[in-house]
Amino acid sequence: MPTPNYDLTTLAARAGEEARPSGSVPLVEPIYQSTVYAFSDLDALERVMSGEEAGSFYYRNGTPNAATLERALATLEGTEAALVAGSGMAAISAALLGVLKAGDHVVADARIYGVTYALLAEEFPRLGITTTFVDACDPGAVEAAFRPETRLLHVESLTNPLMTVPDVPRLAALAHAHGVLLSVDNTFASPAVFRPALHGADLVTHSVSKYLSGHSNAFGGVVCGPADLIAPARTRLVRLGGTMSAFDAWMTLQGLKTLGLRMRAHSGNAQAVADVLANHPRVRAVYHPGLSSHPQFERAQELFPNGFGGMLSAEIEDAPTFVRALSGRIPLAPSLADVLTSLSWPWGTSHRALPEAERRRLGITPNLLRLSVGIEDIGDLLGDLEGALEEVAGQRAEG
Ligand SMILES: Cc1ncc(COP(=O)(O)O)c(C=O)c1O
Repeated sequence: MPTPNYDLTTLAARAGEEARPSGSVPLVEPIYQSTVYAFSDLDALERVMSGEEAGSFYYRNGTPNAATLERALATLEGTEAALVAGSGMAAISAALLGVLKAGDHVVADARIYGVTYALLAEEFPRLGITTTFVDACDPGAVEAAFRPETRLLHVESLTNPLMTVPDVPRLAALAHAHGVLLSVDNTFASPAVFRPALHGADLVTHSVSKYLSGHSNAFGGVVCGPADLIAPARTRLVRLGGTMSAFDAWMTLQGLKTLGLRMRAHSGNAQAVADVLANHPRVRAVYHPGLSSHPQFERAQELFPNGFGGMLSAEIEDAPTFVRALSGRIPLAPSLADVLTSLSWPWGTSHRALPEAERRRLGITPNLLRLSVGIEDIGDLLGDLEGALEEVAGQRAEG
């Protein structure tokens, strides 16, 4: 089509507009950075705005990349629908606010992620929503905490940093018998290890910057569940403005493609590291669900038949020396689930807000380190870890 004799300002404003898909289509979905969508007529606009037809209209309400990721994550978690968000906390907030109102009560595991704890303990009471924290590995304590106004039970499928494994099928049955919904944060496990919705969970959440994306380069969250619970969560998220960026959705989708392979490698390596550390004289305790010393060893075998993922914690005789000895090979970084192994220090990071006595009561000591075991060659990894433990032994001998 010949270009009409427009002014330069018009030509510049419409630059690139003639680009449309032709015979060949991109193998990888493009990143849709457009913040708004154009419609051919009012009926087409109405069909999308009313939800009668799938489509995008405004970035905050969701991009095509987010919609693609939502379909993929719902499939992986075995749920009808999913909603992606700008962070794991945005997803959890939207999921919980979607089902809770003033006067409602929540029961939650005391071992949940610290910011989720703070959301329930400090933010929700301002909205008239209260929470009782219990040990979710004790179903009797969970049941005793239920009240007539309890609406939700929130737990994590694998907890940080001691890797406890609540009995999700039993908790789902217990919750449903009391008319309570079960929400499970599945971040540490990933759907390759455990799919909570197939065991009765109503809502499943993730911080997607962990195993789902897998390379510490995409940020976001997701809540998966039935369409009638995802719809109110979406309304809350859109109004609170917690949209996931198109780029982060796109990056997450690229990482997601290797989830199965990565989790097999993470699980195998973490089990091997746990076995070696558990028998090392410089290691006082190891917390990993695949060790027979783990308090929920049998339950973990039953619920996680394909392995336990890459997370474990260990109490080292001299953690500062161990961390220094690994510097340049295994980084100290307060996150998890990358393809490379990293260390974190629960005493000084995730649990630093807890009083010292409470940290010690939970088993979180200054020498406890959390390992997010990566997919490196296991011989190299064990060599690095054993070399650092030798330095710990050397320090002891000198001291
Ligand atoms: C288990 C768990 N849930 C939720 C979150 C919060 O996710 P985000 O940091 O993406 O908001 C985290 C963050 O580390 C986490 O570890």
